[in-house]
Amino acid sequence: MNGIRIVSTGRALPSKVVTNDEMSKIVDTSDEWISTRTGIRQRYFCDGEMNWQLAVESAKKAIRNIDKKEIGAVIVATFSPDYAFPSVACLVQKELGLRCDIMSFDINAACTGFLYALNVAEGLLRSSGEKYALVIGSEQISTRLNMEDRGTCVLFGDGAGAAIVEKSESDNYACVMGSDGDLEALVCPGQALENQYIAMDGKKVFKFAVGTVGKVINELLDKTNNTINDIDYVVCHQANERIIKSIIKQFDCNPDKFYMNMQEYGNTSAASIPMALDEMYEKGLLTSGKKIISVGFGAGFTWGGMLLEC
Ligand code: UT7
Repeated sequence: MNGIRIVSTGRALPSKVVTNDEMSKIVDTSDEWISTRTGIRQRYFCDGEMNWQLAVESAKKAIRNIDKKEIGAVIVATFSPDYAFPSVACLVQKELGLRCDIMSFDINAACTGFLYALNVAEGLLRSSGEKYALVIGSEQISTRLNMEDRGTCVLFGDGAGAAIVEKSESDNYACVMGSDGDLEALVCPGQALENQYIAMDGKKVFKFAVGTVGKVINELLDKTNNTINDIDYVVCHQANERIIKSIIKQFDCNPDKFYMNMQEYGNTSAASIPMALDEMYEKGLLTSGKKIISVGFGAGFTWGGMLLEC
């Protein structure tokens, strides 16, 4: 079977931590409301850092033990690039001194972006014969937040996560991706428009997430003849603790399988899954042979899931 393996990871955060109490000085909210409705306790906001700089810092950590001449593609998942062009990926390629005879480009599938990017990387590695792809999820969402809209501004944070991936021939690999073209529930107008911010129908997104993630997990399990108990960890997009707890209820398994770290970072969109993976590698949770399912969902609506063996 085709597939990819994550070789190494990294993550980067801007310097400014903003707690829920600090958010309550900006907008009519409270630590109690935010933490009970979402699980979020703090987030990081850029304070001069650019999206591409976060992407570079996360990538530096991911490439620490490999020969960068063997990187054959750079893909950055982001909905919040610094420029319409050049892409964040091109700026990363230049800053890291990577080869110039490779493709570097951004993709946007909102919060599902990192998993879309891994899927694209898998195809590119197979068709090009290159050894590694550098895949990054990187976001500077704070500049797209309406700091007068308490329904959105408390939810998101900035950050970046990176992974070096290579091809693998594992029986434990499967991928499920989709989108449906929703233009109402979660929208962020383009960069050309100033003072245009994220707008969201939170309940609609919540319902979509809870319905879709469970279905994607079941499809991945069916495709690979696994049960949830064969899976070591499920790494969902980190939007809301209540979303993940509702998904856990759909499965008869140890709830600790479902990793959560939105408490510290908020929802970092395309960066949330690679940042979680990096944290898990750092904690020694993702040792060789561990099977993980990762599932993303986001504006578009987009969704995607991947079952991988570490
Ligand atoms: O990456 C995908 C991105 N998005 C998501 O995953 C979001 C999915 N949705 C959610 O996580 C939840 O819908 C939210 C956390 C956004 C909202 O939770 P909710 O339980 O659906 O709350 P609600 O929107 O129904 O609002 C309930 C009340 C309202 O007040 P009234 O009308 O009942 O008086 C809101 O005005 O809570 C109020 N409210 C707040 N109060 C304090 C909304 N935001 C806040 C806030 N602080 N930050």
